[in-house]
Amino acid sequence: MILSVILAAGEGTRMKSKYSKVTQKIMGKPMIEYIVQASKEAGIERNVLIVGQNEEDLKEIFKDSLTYRKQEIGEGFPYGTGYAVQMAVDEIRDEDDVLILNGDIPLITGQSLKSFVDFHFESQGSASVMTAFLDDPTSYGRIIKCDQGYLSAIVEDKDCNPDQLKIKEINPGIYIFNGAKLKAALENLDDDNAQGEMYITDVVSILADQGEKISTFTLKDPDEMYGINSKDQLSFAQEIMRKRINTNHMKEGVLMENPSNIYIEPGIEIGRDTYIGSGARISGRTKIGEDCLITGDTHIDDSVIGDRVKIVSSSIELSGVGDETTIGPYAHLRPGSDLSNNVHIGNFVEVKNSVIKEGTKAGHLAYIGDADLGKDINIGCGAIFVNYDGKKKHRSKVGDGAFIGSNSNIVSPINVAEEGFIAAGSTVIEDVDKGSLYIERGKPSQIKDWVYRKREGEE
Ligand code: UD1
Ligand code: CA
Repeated sequence: MILSVILAAGEGTRMKSKYSKVTQKIMGKPMIEYIVQASKEAGIERNVLIVGQNEEDLKEIFKDSLTYRKQEIGEGFPYGTGYAVQMAVDEIRDEDDVLILNGDIPLITGQSLKSFVDFHFESQGSASVMTAFLDDPTSYGRIIKCDQGYLSAIVEDKDCNPDQLKIKEINPGIYIFNGAKLKAALENLDDDNAQGEMYITDVVSILADQGEKISTFTLKDPDEMYGINSKDQLSFAQEIMRKRINTNHMKEGVLMENPSNIYIEPGIEIGRDTYIGSGARISGRTKIGEDCLITGDTHIDDSVIGDRVKIVSSSIELSGVGDETTIGPYAHLRPGSDLSNNVHIGNFVEVKNSVIKEGTKAGHLAYIGDADLGKDINIGCGAIFVNYDGKKKHRSKVGDGAFIGSNSNIVSPINVAEEGFIAAGSTVIEDVDKGSLYIERGKPSQIKDWVYRKREGEE
């Protein structure tokens, strides 16, 4: 059987962060999730994660979908990738094949891992190592081969002699070893090297010295082996991942304007012929239908958007939007907004925790909070659902076909029945009956020529 051992216990000092390196996010998702997912996509069912001080965070991410082994970190304990793998020995049976994966190479795909596993089984050797060619191999371990073309050693950048430094074939940190041979070699590791660490890469020279033929499998796309040690590398990897995601959406029929300025997190569904404009940011568990038009500085997070929806420069969180609804510019749907089809939410309208049924329109400058609005309602400019009394939130309800005049205040809880009509400027403090006009206004008065008399008085 093949199992994976994924190394995630490292201190990540080059990251200069108070958070664990492998939990740092790429496109909104912890780096380590990508490699675990790739391992699972390659068909590996048993995945052992080596955790360190980040144990709690990692268990929170993966729950019981993985096996965990703890590496103690700190003074008095050895350190290094070889020591990390030693933590997994009791999980490895002699007849197993063990795929070892660095936890900081998030761009590797399940497909590439699968090809590597297939390659290993076909070559029938006791070990296989993935490699890649880089124009600038700096900082990576170099691949040293014997005359027959088999691998004889991997030498860390810091341990290389000047000739070895010129080698452009590098070690991405992905290996397969026979269980028994790996366990025996692990017992012979030492920390006699430039960094004083136990290197997993030394298993290669130990096996080669025993006469094992170790084959190499070269990654076609060297982007995939990009390792993350610092924040600029994190940002660079995010850039590659972002492009990859956008390209996939375009392949599936999504239109994009200036895709280098569009951020879409992984796992998001977008329907065909939907147009995503420059500046959009789409995140979380979001689903967007077909033929939508999403333009401007629009942010959509954890929301479900229907078909033929138009959204301009707006922010939508944890909400649902029905077909043919239009939003923005500059609207804000806060969590719990549930909009049916053909709704219109115009400029500077904020909606929170409210249900809005078909055909209802709030064109400008309104706040709809904690309200249940029926169909075909007109919400005038400046209307406010006064949902908060300083202590508690209250909910209001407006029936189908009602008219909420401009600049009115609905002091919740209020029930406006069907076709109720609120006159502009009213503060509504009691329920409104079906078909009634609610009007609350001071008596208007005018003082004739007041302006001119005032002016004369001043002179
Ligand atoms: C490692 C390889 C190097 C390779 C590079 C590819 C070794 C000795 N070197 O170097 O040849 O080119 O990856 O990116 O393996 N980890 C632990 N416990 C530890 C130390 C590290 O779990 O004690 C984990 C880290 O969390 C990380 C992974 O192992 O996910 C790799 O460790 P890192 O220190 O980044 O190795 P590199 O120096 O990049
Ligand atoms: Ca690394």
